[in-house]
Amino acid sequence: MAHPLHLTITVEVLASEAELTPAEATTWQQARAATDQAYAPYSHFHVGTALLLDDGTIHKGTNQENAAYPSGLCAERTALFGLASSRPERRILCMAVAARPATGDFVAVTSCGACRQVMTEYENRQGTPIPLLLPGPNDTIYRFRSLADLLPFQFSASDLPTVK
Ligand code: THU
Repeated sequence: MAHPLHLTITVEVLASEAELTPAEATTWQQARAATDQAYAPYSHFHVGTALLLDDGTIHKGTNQENAAYPSGLCAERTALFGLASSRPERRILCMAVAARPATGDFVAVTSCGACRQVMTEYENRQGTPIPLLLPGPNDTIYRFRSLADLLPFQFSASDLPTVK
């Protein structure tokens, strides 16, 4: 018999940066600062990502565009691929994303589907939830408990019978 399956995702909505922990605030500010390094001559949409690591350092990424448009990459993935390439042993304690027009103030943004897939891959790889900060409407901050909350019904290694 068909029956509904209700999913519950809890997202905390913070009124402002003042409600972040000090570690979260640093991650948040570094994501914003990273937007200065975006290479976005085509969309003029600057995106920055900051990853707070277990050694206290921050690893950043920005969107990198290309004249052959699909060859570009989002900020979330440049950050995660860069970290996994250079310091794969580090654990991510917090992730933050920021976005703004090339000339203009910060805006609300959420990660694209391809980034969500990559984000959950690395969360599964490290085996512990990664809290995520996203800019919400009216200068609020959305605090997700886990990257998995962005991608219900995720496809993961456990779906591949040969890599279980
Ligand atoms: N972009 C990101 O960097 N992250 C996202 O999650 C959404 C989109 C970038 C890709 C492209 O360089 C620009 O924003 C416009 O789509």
